[in-house]
Amino acid sequence: MKIKLFTLLLIILSIYLHPINAQNSDIENKVNELLSKMTLDEKIGQMNQYNGFWEVTGPEPVGGNAKMKYEHLKSGRVGSMFNITGVENVRKIQKIAVENSRLGIPLIFGYDVIHGYKTISPIPLAEAASWDLKAIELSSRIAAIEASAVGLNWSFGPMVDISRDPRWGRVMEGAGEDPYLGSKIGAARVKGFQGNDLAASNTVAACAKHFAAYGFSEAGRDYNIVDIGTSTLYNVALPPFKAAVDAGVRTLMNSFNLLNGIPATGSSFLQRDILKDGWAFDGFVVSDWASGREMIAHGYASDLKQVAEFSLTAGSDMDMESYAYISHLKELVEAGTVPISIVDDAVKRILRVKFELGLFDDPYKYCNAEREKTLLNHPDHHKAALDMAKKSIVLLKNKGNLLPLKKEKQKIAVIGALANDKNSPIGSWRAMGEDNSAVSVLEGLSAYPENTIKYAKGADLTQGRTSVLFELKINETDKSGFAEAIELAKKSDLVIMVLGEHGFQTGEGRSRANLDLPGVQQELLEAVYQANKNIVLVLMNGRPLILNWAEEHVPAILETWHLGSQSGNAIAQVLYGDYNPSGKLPMSFPRSVGQIPIYYNHYSTGRPNPSNLVYWSHYNDESNEPLYPFGFGLSYTNFKYSDLKIDGSDQKNIKVQVNIKNTGTVKGEEVVQLYIHDKFASVTRPVKELKGFEKIELMPGETKNIKFLLTDKELGFYNNKGEYLVEPGEFEIMVGTNSKDVIRAAFELQ
Ligand code: GLC
Repeated sequence: MKIKLFTLLLIILSIYLHPINAQNSDIENKVNELLSKMTLDEKIGQMNQYNGFWEVTGPEPVGGNAKMKYEHLKSGRVGSMFNITGVENVRKIQKIAVENSRLGIPLIFGYDVIHGYKTISPIPLAEAASWDLKAIELSSRIAAIEASAVGLNWSFGPMVDISRDPRWGRVMEGAGEDPYLGSKIGAARVKGFQGNDLAASNTVAACAKHFAAYGFSEAGRDYNIVDIGTSTLYNVALPPFKAAVDAGVRTLMNSFNLLNGIPATGSSFLQRDILKDGWAFDGFVVSDWASGREMIAHGYASDLKQVAEFSLTAGSDMDMESYAYISHLKELVEAGTVPISIVDDAVKRILRVKFELGLFDDPYKYCNAEREKTLLNHPDHHKAALDMAKKSIVLLKNKGNLLPLKKEKQKIAVIGALANDKNSPIGSWRAMGEDNSAVSVLEGLSAYPENTIKYAKGADLTQGRTSVLFELKINETDKSGFAEAIELAKKSDLVIMVLGEHGFQTGEGRSRANLDLPGVQQELLEAVYQANKNIVLVLMNGRPLILNWAEEHVPAILETWHLGSQSGNAIAQVLYGDYNPSGKLPMSFPRSVGQIPIYYNHYSTGRPNPSNLVYWSHYNDESNEPLYPFGFGLSYTNFKYSDLKIDGSDQKNIKVQVNIKNTGTVKGEEVVQLYIHDKFASVTRPVKELKGFEKIELMPGETKNIKFLLTDKELGFYNNKGEYLVEPGEFEIMVGTNSKDVIRAAFELQ
């Protein structure tokens, strides 16, 4: 009887799963059939990706080395183009490939759609501060809708690099220092970009990058080496990539850095052992921009031929702008140095994603001029960008409840170049977000006419042209605007100072060794403070900054990052309390650069406890603690945590519950955070690790009981062989409003 039941179950399951299996096997058949027809040149062509920084003005593109690329497009020796946007351009390039090459294999078009395409959402680090996974998914969904409306079908995002080093300019592009939050956010972004149907014309293939551990670049410098321990690799750097793969991401991008002395692009440990074998990833890996060729500078490959051999052997399927595969792979295969089987594997992976995108059904399906005309900058997209921006703002200080601002004919001085800057809020990695298209702080404040607003720049932040490509000239000397600002402050009831970083002071190639307010801004802040101490500091920046003086002197501090198109409206609505700030820091803010790397989920060390002697782990001239810890963020109301209870009766489902009460007078949202500490383990565990969070809304006086479930998934860790272990022993549970202010309980895992 049992066998019959089991057979019946199998039949039902196969029917239920049939559509997915059928679709997959249908695609597999098509991939294999197409592969069997391809010449070696055509196979290598699929593995070749070109940048297209040129216009397509007629039948062929002009500028750059377009002539060569045009010939290769016509002869089926290009598999993908990137940095080509616009339905007309994409259609022209696709036409060259599809209508001239022998097999007419369509191109896949990629682009860095990181936080929006035309409607620009807050930078990813800001979105991470919202801890709102639904809003983050929607942000990526909208980015995909706009990107696919201009012919693109592949986003080079999400960037899921964990980083503990705010000197690194690319922290703006990720989700901060924590692997649990970074994993949840990475998965949400993959779902947003790819939707439920990759063949739909408003979804794009996503690309988890940079595989792997690029966020640990030594000294916070781009393109530098990474030298981290195995435990940090397995337990911190890799989990967000695994989460992206589990969420169905169809591509990964490898990284510029070395890992254990091997360039990631040439690392079979990463790309084959971990990703393709260990995680059974069946999409494809693209290199980063010429990261293959850079293996020569790293001292790993002696020439471009070795670059081709080492990259492909290690599992880098598509060559972005190294020209290695197109130049040398044929001779390597014909000489028997590289087996055709690994070429075929790479090509099948690429063709598989192209079939999944529906490109073979209609190579021009993403080229719809009507969608391009109606969807970019759609009002609904800006509405979502505003919502995301408000949720991304973090209230760092509010002494004496200076905020929210009162609407009662106050004379308010607004000071700082960034208050009138419509460009910086768009941030770095702005895709086709137009320069000077953001709502400025001044414009946002103009929606509240009850107070009298007067503006004084105080000082320029930059001098000369600003470009994402070239070094910015920061104003270090010109204080000619100080007097006017000080005069205005003297005559005002309150001062809003908008200070921070230019949008192009963060992002790729934008590492900083000094994290103070750039230029003369700190001097301006202190000078204005002498004239009027009633200051609200609005920070506009792409990374944690050193804010010790402000924390000590300024009554109210708002972290507003680079909030995208709707920046000024979001900031004004939070300043006036129309939205109660709910953000929580996704990265620790150091007291000094000397503390870096500084992060909450650190190990204990052998001498964690202060002593009257100097022989314990500390600095003689600085605290060990950050200025603001991971998970920190205030509200215009207050929350009280109580009644933390653990039920360990079911050892596979440890139940945790806690009460949170809104003890203030206004409605507010709170991110309830749960941390664990596995006290003793075969590989030491951090003093605390985020393993759960829930963002809740509470009316004044309202109490909610929040429940968490801890399973093997939350309680385990990877040992140095990459094996996932859950070990018995004492666990401490901490729940609270940030990683420092917590209430504690413990349980014994049998
Ligand atoms: C850049 C970046 C990468 C980006 C690629 C294509 O160098 O490292 O994140 O996707 O090149 O623009």
